[in-house]
Amino acid sequence: MSDDSLVEQARQAALRAYAPYSKFSVGCAILSLDGEVVVGSNMENACYRLGVCAEIAALNAANQAFGLDRIARIAVAGGHIGADGMLAGDGPVTPCGGCRQAFYEAADLSGRDIEIVSSNGAGTDAIVSTIRTLLPEGFGPASLKDAG
Ligand code: THU
Repeated sequence: MSDDSLVEQARQAALRAYAPYSKFSVGCAILSLDGEVVVGSNMENACYRLGVCAEIAALNAANQAFGLDRIARIAVAGGHIGADGMLAGDGPVTPCGGCRQAFYEAADLSGRDIEIVSSNGAGTDAIVSTIRTLLPEGFGPASLKDAG
């Protein structure tokens, strides 16, 4: 699957975000090693701190559908919903720190680094990175090897 197609699915997912407080809609699409795609979007709450990021929603869907260790590629897109009903915005949206930690867990489980495509809302600009670049020297399952 092309990055354009995965980003487009992330952009479509963002249209289903529940973000009445920030008005910043984020979508995340996760591709499995077998070519399956699951998506998630951010879901805010009147108790602000309980909001859930798009990436966490998508990771949960991925775990249900094929398992965290079978993630091949991830796309994230975010911005505002324009007057035409499409996701808009200029700046590529990279995952927040908490979401990087959650992606790190999946990468560590799989034994592979995972590429993340961070798109702007308009789908016209993207940064391709990997979880180990976004979270260098991260703490993951392997870090617990010395636990009792
Ligand atoms: N958000 C995400 O869904 N993912 C990120 O990586 C960054 C931020 C959401 C959280 C909140 O609902 C809104 O974007 C503004 O921060």
